[in-house]
Amino acid sequence: MKTTIGPARSSIAPLEERIDRAIHGVLAAFPDAQRLSPDERRGILARYTAVLEGNFIYWMTAAYLAVTTDQAHAIIRANLLEEVRDNHPGMLRRFAIAAQAVPTDSDALAVHRNLQNVRLFVARLSAVKLLLMMAFFEGWITRFMPYLAELARYQGSAEREYTDVHGVCDVVHTQELFRALEGEMTQAPEPLPPATELLEGVDLLQALIHSIAQPPRGVIPEGVGGSR
Ligand SMILES: [Fe+2]
Repeated sequence: MKTTIGPARSSIAPLEERIDRAIHGVLAAFPDAQRLSPDERRGILARYTAVLEGNFIYWMTAAYLAVTTDQAHAIIRANLLEEVRDNHPGMLRRFAIAAQAVPTDSDALAVHRNLQNVRLFVARLSAVKLLLMMAFFEGWITRFMPYLAELARYQGSAEREYTDVHGVCDVVHTQELFRALEGEMTQAPEPLPPATELLEGVDLLQALIHSIAQPPRGVIPEGVGGSR
């Protein structure tokens, strides 16, 4: 295996820090579970499910298609295999059903615009930017699990598999994605754009997670009729 000491190592540390700050930022956007009404708790669980259930594997697949190094392919492949073999979308669906938080039309509409923005970004298949976004995604998911489990518990659910599995495995996945990123960055045509540009996907995903935390008020998504 290739060692990672050198320019790539020094360029990745500030990005890891930025992602860490972004994770803290989105975690802080979620209100204290105890202070929420049952309907607000259901809404967060449902919007989380609406975003994660059908998109995580698709975005990780996009990262697989975008990367160029053998190392990154191997790392993402292992991640995808676990998702598919262990049926993580099915696990999440069971979790949402048990918490009586299956997404409704209005839950889907609350995240619609920000979700579409992330999809447009993902479609561009930019390897380094996508890996940064997925490292942020995995890192956030891991640290979000205790809160998500708490919401479900308040909803009277005893279903724990999804939150237990994701609180553990994603720690490893996040670190692996940073390793994949280091390799990709050394392959990237020089010079790499500044950090603000590299974090484009992180910013878009941040906005999406904010709409899970607090649904935007008075926003009528495009293509669903009505006017603002
Ligand atoms: Fe998963």
